[in-house]
This record gives sequence, structure tokens and C-alpha cells, in this order.
Amino acid sequence: MANFDVIVIGSGPGGYVCAIRCAQLGLKTACVEGRETLGGTCLNIGCIPSKALLHASHMLHEAETNFAAMGLKGKAPSVDWAQMQAYKDDVVATNTKGVEFLFKKNKITRITGWASIPAPGQVKVGDEVHTAKHIVIATGSEASSLPGVTVDETTVVTSTGALTLPKVPKTMVVIGGGVIGLELGSVYTRLGTAVTVVEYLDALVPGADAEVARTFQRLLKKQGMEILTGAAVQGVEVAKGKAKVSYKMRKDGAEATLDADVVLVATGRRPFTKGLGLEDLGVKMTSRGQIETDAQWRTNIPGLYAIGDAIPGPMLAHKAEDEGMAVAEVMAGQHGHVNYGVIPGVIYTWPEVASVGETEESLKAGGRAFKVGKFSFMGNGRAKATFSGDGFVKILADKDTDRILGAHIIGPSAGDLIHEVCVAMEFGAAAEDLARTCHAHPTYSEAVREAALACGDGAIHA
Ligand code: NAI
Repeated sequence: MANFDVIVIGSGPGGYVCAIRCAQLGLKTACVEGRETLGGTCLNIGCIPSKALLHASHMLHEAETNFAAMGLKGKAPSVDWAQMQAYKDDVVATNTKGVEFLFKKNKITRITGWASIPAPGQVKVGDEVHTAKHIVIATGSEASSLPGVTVDETTVVTSTGALTLPKVPKTMVVIGGGVIGLELGSVYTRLGTAVTVVEYLDALVPGADAEVARTFQRLLKKQGMEILTGAAVQGVEVAKGKAKVSYKMRKDGAEATLDADVVLVATGRRPFTKGLGLEDLGVKMTSRGQIETDAQWRTNIPGLYAIGDAIPGPMLAHKAEDEGMAVAEVMAGQHGHVNYGVIPGVIYTWPEVASVGETEESLKAGGRAFKVGKFSFMGNGRAKATFSGDGFVKILADKDTDRILGAHIIGPSAGDLIHEVCVAMEFGAAAEDLARTCHAHPTYSEAVREAALACGDGAIHA
């Protein structure tokens, strides 16, 4: 008899959500976590602490740029970095304790330590071997390395070190203009650091709608961020606590260097599966080091499943959460399902950037006929009142059926606005369905409706 119905390895958003759903479905569940606190990368050193710093630095930016115009006079606040760090740590602690509470509430056994899988149905932690009918690997990801760059988490940091720098640096080079680079780059730009982002490709945010990426780049530059695109970083040298970043321009091979107090390496993440013993177990992996699964998250080993960043697909907490719930349903004999066509992506800068579904580029590449409905936040009354007119909503719909195929938003609260389009897409809605839905005035969400109207007879305020 196995000790447990399910052992989940990893307590990030994929793992802890999976464990809770397993318990709710009546399965005897344990969750193994190597860290002292629950919540994985997202809660401890990722999404949550970065959002705290983004919020604090955004408030400062608002005070510096918009307060006087609103008649709020006086000196802009100065930065007490130690207090900002304490605030961030407090936000992390309340979140990780929240997961602890949920584990107790759902009677999930918490096992602390680093797990390995010595044989199918077995999970070893320290000297103890636990047995389970089902094992779920939800071990997430770690920052991937870059040739010629040695991370010391002091001068050359990953996102982990960037969250706990001893002081706000004067200069920072960010390698990689993806989500991490632009979110943390924004934090430090707003706190007064001279930030230069060096991106290999010709545009920021690989895979983003090209028009959104262009607008985003312009707005970030306006906020003071230096951005170099088409530049491949060759290496970083550190001497006396200062870094020198060398790069080569891809179009003409010109080489140059940048000096910086801190270098943030944000060139992607890779699955974290070290120490699990997957090779000995014979678990099938992809060429990119991800665990291969079928559509129900089963690996090639009976009773062994994998979800989240450790398997192919976007490395996003909410994708992992959805897989966690769905695999729990599969293990309980139900029919778990994830709609990979409707997974939103959000960048929590200001303005925020959010997207779901197809882009114009992907639709063109697929030869699909589509129409574009676009609406600028300049035409939105609420946005005008809050200095948020920069940006737009773009909805892509099938040319013949009007079915919504994707949406791209750059603007205020884009990360919240995107979800009405997600729900509409889940229901197979047409742009006209959104356009005929009454939206409260004055809200940012009216811009979404206007973009839907623009797919048909036209937006009203354009
Ligand atoms: P990313 O894949 O989003 O971006 C990495 C960037 O680095 C790419 O644009 C790439 O072209 C560039 N790059 C690679 N090598 C380079 C070189 N030698 N020189 C210059 N540029 C180079 O990876 P990132 O930002 O590290 O994020 C990792 C993962 O974490 C992503 O999957 C992301 O979606 C996820 N994440 C999501 C967040 C969110 O949803 N808000 C927040 C933070 C991370």
C-alpha cells in the first residue's frame, strides 16, 4: 500500500495548486519542497517580489511625473531602499504563509527537503522513501546561463540577485529584452539607475505583436531606458566590482563595450530537474531538456506526471496552475483539460502589455484571412484622466466568421483588461459579441469594446 495517492514535487504555482486540487478531489496528498518556504520561484523570487518593486517604483514615477500637473505640490518622495526591500519581503512572507495555511486547511502533508525519484512510485527525501500511486514533477525552472558570462549574484545577477541588490545601482546593463529584463529594467529606471537593455533580436519581447513591441520600445525609451536591439552580448568581465559588457551589432559586426555597476542576465530560463534522477529512471526528455508528456501530462514512466516550466510551453505561473488543476483531475479519474490557445501573457511594466491568442504575424504566416479592430487609449475618457492615453487595444477576428482569434493591449491595466477577451475566446465569441456587451463608463475596458466595434461598423470615439 502506498503512503499517498499523490506526491507533488515542488510547491510553486503549478505544484501547490495541483496539491490543493488533489486534496479537494479526495486524494491523499503530499507536497515536497526543498526551500524553507512554499510558493516556489513565483512567490519567493519571481512574480510576487517583482510586482512589489514594480508597484513601489511606479508610485515614485507617478509622483515625479504627474503629481504637479494634478495640483499635488511638494517634494517628490525619496527612496529608502531598505524599507522598500522590507515591504517586498513582507509581501512575499504573507503570500508564502498563505500557501502554508491552504496546505493545512486541505490536510496536505508538507515534506521539506530535496526530492529524488529512485524508482517508479517512490520519492526519496533525505533518508526517507515515501510511496505514492501518482507522482507529479512540478520543479519549475532556473535562469539559463550565457556563454562568456559568469553570474556571481552580486555584480552579475539573475532576476534573483536583482531583487535583493544591496543598493540602487548608478548604472545597469540588462542582457535580454524579454519579460524579466523589461520588468526589472523598469524598476531600476524609475528608481534612478541609468539602465541599458541589450537585446539580440531586432525588437523587444520575442513573439509579441510587432506593433505593440514598437510602441512599447518607444514608451520605455521615453521613460529613460536605453535600448540597443540587434546586439549580441559576447561576454562580461568583472574587475573591482565593476562590469564591462562586450557586444557585437548583428547587422555590421561592429563591436563595443558598456560599463555597469550591475549586469542583469535575463536571457531566458531552463527546466530545473537536477537531482531528480530522471536519467536513471529513463524519463523521456525533449532536445531542450524539458520533460516530455502526453496531452494528459503523463511521462513515459507509469504513474509519473510533469507540469509547468519543466515541460514544453510558455513558462508562466498561470499555465502551470492550469496544468496543476487539470492533472489532478486526470489522476482522480476525471477529464482535465487546458486550452493552450487561450493563455494570456502579461508584462507588468507601465503601461502594461498583455496578449492572448494569435498575432497578426502568426495569422499571416498561417495564411488565415483576418480583420483588425484597433482603438487608442487617447480616445478613452478614463485614460485621459489618469495620464494613461499612451497605447491601444487591438483585436484580431476571423474575416468571415468574426470569431475572435487574438488580442493585444498596451495600456493602463492591460493585464486585467485582457481577461474579458480570454473569456470571450473560451466561449468562441465573435468580436460583435464583445461589441454588443454593455461596458461601464468611464472605464479602461471601454477601449476593449471600441476595438471590438472597430472589427465591425467602427469605433465610436475614434
Ligand atoms: P525571455 O525569453 O522572455 O527573453 C530573453 C531575451 O534575451 C530574448 O529577447 C532573447 O532574444 C535575448 N537574448 C538571448 N541571448 C542574448 C544575448 N547573447 N545578447 C542579447 N540578448 C540576448 O526570457 P526572460 O525575460 O529571461 O524570462 C524567462 C521566462 O520567465 C520567460 O518564459 C518569461 O515568460 C517568464 N517570466 C514571465 C513573467 C510574466 O509573465 N510577467 C515575468 C518574468 C518572467
